[in-house]
This record gives sequence, C-alpha cells and structure tokens, in this order.
Amino acid sequence: MCGIIGVTGEPDALPLILGALHQLEYRGYDSAGVALVAGGEIWRARAADGTHSVADLAALTADAPRGHAAAIGHTRWATHGHPTPENAHPHVDCTGRLALIHNGIIENHSALRADLVANGHTMTSATDTEVMVHLIERFMAEGSDLTAATRRMLGSVRGAFSIAVICADEPDTIVAARRSTPLVLGLRDGTAFLASDIPALIGHTREVYALADDELAVLTPGHLHVTTLEGAPVIPEQLTITWDLEAAQKGGFPDYMSKEMDEQPLAVATTLLDRRGAGGELILDELRISADELRRIDKVFIVACGSSYHAAAVAKYALEHWVKLPTEVDIASEFRYRDPVIGDRTLCVGVSQSGETLDTSEAMREASRLGAKVLVVSNVVDSSMARHADGVLYTRAGPEVGVASTKCHLAQIVALEILGLFLAQIHGTLTAPEIGEILNAMDELPALMTRTLSRRREVDEVASKLTDARDFFFLGRHVGYPVALEGALKLKELAYLRAEGYAAGELKHGPIALIEPGVVVVGIATRNPLWEKMLSNIAEVHSRGATVVLVADDGDEEAAAVADHVLWVPPTSPLLSPVIGVIPLQQLAYRLARLHGHDPDRPRNLAKTVTVE
Ligand code: G6P
Repeated sequence: MCGIIGVTGEPDALPLILGALHQLEYRGYDSAGVALVAGGEIWRARAADGTHSVADLAALTADAPRGHAAAIGHTRWATHGHPTPENAHPHVDCTGRLALIHNGIIENHSALRADLVANGHTMTSATDTEVMVHLIERFMAEGSDLTAATRRMLGSVRGAFSIAVICADEPDTIVAARRSTPLVLGLRDGTAFLASDIPALIGHTREVYALADDELAVLTPGHLHVTTLEGAPVIPEQLTITWDLEAAQKGGFPDYMSKEMDEQPLAVATTLLDRRGAGGELILDELRISADELRRIDKVFIVACGSSYHAAAVAKYALEHWVKLPTEVDIASEFRYRDPVIGDRTLCVGVSQSGETLDTSEAMREASRLGAKVLVVSNVVDSSMARHADGVLYTRAGPEVGVASTKCHLAQIVALEILGLFLAQIHGTLTAPEIGEILNAMDELPALMTRTLSRRREVDEVASKLTDARDFFFLGRHVGYPVALEGALKLKELAYLRAEGYAAGELKHGPIALIEPGVVVVGIATRNPLWEKMLSNIAEVHSRGATVVLVADDGDEEAAAVADHVLWVPPTSPLLSPVIGVIPLQQLAYRLARLHGHDPDRPRNLAKTVTVE
C-alpha cells in the first residue's frame, strides 16, 4: 500500500508534491519518487532509504527543472519487489515518455509481463506495477491517446489499483483511475489534484471529490472530467472536509504518537458528545439504520484488523453482557474467506480507523453480499467503507498519523460500547436508568484518561528497568484479555520485542513452559470479574521466576504484593476499564521503543493504512 499525489496547473508543483508525500508517509515510506513533464520530456527522481525516503527525494529534486506541467509523486510500501530505487514509483515505459504511479496489487502481472517481454518491452523493476505503463505504451503505439490507452490497459489488468499516469506528449494531463483502493480528486482555481486521501490535500483545497470504483478521471489545469471505465460521464461525489492542516500536524510534540496519545481524552470526549436526547435516551443520528431494522437483528459480527480488532474484542464482552445477542469477533482477512453464517438478521460491524483497510472493506462487501446489515465504525468522514455501508458510526478522534493506532483505538472501544448501549436500548435489555448510569460512567473517562496519561514518568521508570528484556508475555482475563493483546501488539510494532498476548487462564495449557527468569509478564490486574483468578495466574508465573509488571487499580495492595512493578491506573467499571488500562501499555511500548533507539512514528515494515491483502 502506498500514497499517491498528482497535480496539474501549478507552475512549480514540486514543493507541493513533496509536502503531500510527507503527509502520506503513514501509508508507507520505504521508497518515494516523483515524475513531472518539463520541456517536452519526463523528468523523474526516486529514492529508497527505508524510513527517510521522502527527505532523500527532496534532496534529489534540488536540480529538477522548473516551469513544469503535470507532476505525480508516490511513497511506497513494498509488496512486489524489494524497496530499492529501481522498484520505486513512478515507473516509465520503454520510451521514457510515460510515467505511472500505483497503489494496490495487479494479480495477473506475471502473465502480462511475460507477454510484454516476448513482444520486445524491457522491464527495469520487479514490481507488478510496471506492466501497466508498458501496456499503455503498447496501446498508444497502436494509435490511442493517453486516456483511451489507459482505459484499454485497465481492461487487461486484474486486481486492486489507484493509478495516475502522465505523458510527455500531453504535458498538462493526468489520467487517474481506481478499483478497490482509495483516490480523491481536488480542484482550486487553475489547478487540479489527486491523492490517496484527504490529508494530503488539506492546505491546498477544500473542494474534494471521491473517485468511485471503476471510474477514471482526466485532470487538466482547473478541470476534472470523470467517467466510468467504459467512458460514461459521471458527476463525482463532493466530500465534506472538517479537518484543518494544523490538526494533521505534530503540534509541538516530538512525534505524532506522543501527540496522539495526549489527544486521547479529547478523542473519547468528542466521540461521546451529543449522544443523549432531551429525555436522556441514547441517540445515534448518523447511524442510517433504523430502530426497526436493528430490532430484527439476532446476531452481531464485529470484524476488523490490528488494533481495531482488539477494540472489537473488547466490544464483544460489552455487547453480550448488555444486549444478550450472540456476538462474534473476527479478523477481517479470515472472516472474508471462511463461510460465516450470516443472514438478513445479522448486523455486521466493520471497525476501521481509516475506513480504507482492504481486508475489512472486502469483508464488509462479503457480509453485504450475504444479506447482513453492514455498519462501519470509522474515523474518516466519507471514507470509502463509510460510504458503502448501510450505516456508519464515526469515532471523532481527528486525523491519526502515528502508524501504531492510539487515540483511534480508544475512541473505537467507546464508539462500539455506545453502539452496544444503543442496541440494548432498542432490544430492551437494559432499562433507561441503567443506560444512563453507564453513560455517566463513560463521561468520566476523559478525566480518568488525563490522570492516567499524567503518570508517564512512572511508566518511563518501569521501562528503564526492562531494557535488557527480550521476551514479554501480556496476560489478561475478561476484557483484560484484549487489553493484553493490544499491549503486546504495541510492544512488537514499536520496540521490535517478542511479545505474546495471552488469555491468562490459557497459559497453563502450554505457554507457561516458556516462563523462566528474564521473561517479563505484564498482567492486566484491574478489578474485573476475574480479578482473583488473574492474581492466581500471576502468582504462577511469579513463582517461576518471571519479572511481573501489573496494571492495577490505585491502592490495590493485594495486586502489588505479587508484582515487581506496578502501573497504577484510576479505577472505573470493568467494561470501561480497557479505555484506561491500554494507556500505560502504550506508554511502556513508546518508552521501550525510544530506549532501543526506534522512532515510534516510523516502525519498520509497517504502514498506517493497509490497502493490500
Ligand atoms: C495497520 C495499522 C494499525 C491498525 C490497522 C487497522 O496495521 O498499523 O495501527 O490498527 O492497520 O487499520 P484500520 O484503519 O482498518 O483501523
């Protein structure tokens, strides 16, 4: 998955392209490149530095020609072909008069490559992408113009794509198209833009349009012409932009992750805002699925990836307890390829911060095909999943740039629990006063989160004692289990340390064999219904020599007695406790990443939004 940007109509588009690539780095940053038309030729530069490719690219473009026409830029997260300059986009054809950028995967690239090579084309990269630019070359050689040749090319490829292509013979034109991966278009005076998503365009224009699947756009200075792949004209959907540029930048913090952790109380408070009607009842205006439809629901699936999946796993406990509906949670990439038992009385909830994760969006497509009502919990207004679902519930966390999700994860837990309460209200499984009481407790969360965040130095101190540790187990029971999963994921992705998240009761069925001195066990020991059993599990690992770190409620001396270190948190009701308990684990992973010399905003091999399988 990659970030793409294109501009036409700017006399000097390079600073804009480089700035946008910087904004898009969360989609991948192992290489970056730019191509532009100047003096009747394509000029191109590419860099592949692993984590600082866009900065390297900026240096390479210092001597780029000025006064150019169309320009395109790309930041890459490698799928086919190593992250090398040769594999970096834009890719050019044999004549060097065409340049193309791509996000997605072309599934039939091997057959196309063999055919092109057999017909005299020279390939210079190991990517799936390169075949596309050579196919356009072939069709242009047969007499098609850039737009028609791109259309013909798209008829030959199978897979997922957002592409943009420029040609030295049509200097002001960019042709773009998409299938299954995101692409937005923008207009301002005499300029036209395209980008993988909205943050790259913030600061340049607020007139932004969504390109839908199987649509093609021709961008010329100040104009967008959108059609279907077959050529039928389309009026693109204009999107609502509610973010400002500053919100998408670091705001004085050393990195996005710190900034976004600090914003967590606000993210949760905003997600909770305006959810109660005059009579105290819960109202979810944006849901788009009627109360009657929700009353018919007899089963819930919650499907997601990564940290969003862990939010879903918390919600399962809440939904089963409050709504008494069978609730399954599944990883999107598994869900879509098994035979989930789904009918028209199933509610399928896709949880995706970006609303663009391919596995989750395809899982929702499958659920819809099987007849389920599809509801999406997303942080991005008008994200493609939000647009295609029957209903949507927005987390209102603001843009999240840090690759490892923090504020969106906590806002997702809260949003899913609000959904749980709403279903309980509709199904009559909780009374109005019961719902009101839980909402009151939720309203306390932002203050408790702020208090938890303010204890960062205590967490830093614990982290400083764990710098030699290489093996971590995160254990929890009940809702502490998904918290443990999230804590382990954070440590893996940020500090590159081996960390297993486990249901504490399951440890004795195998993994306990790995416990020995030197292993760190991080236990979630806040007071939930299984707290006593949790302490017994912790005693089992402590007696086998593990170093024990416990997340425990303030003043819980019984928990402290079985721990080497305690990460104290203010208590809240068990089903809401993950919103607090995850915070010290984020801080622990952040500090260990820093102590090991890793940049938390740029974890290796990862990308913020994964739009490939
Ligand atoms: C990537 C990110 C994770 C995120 C996951 C799901 O793997 O690194 O932080 O949780 O994608 O993303 P989504 O946008 O669907 O919530």
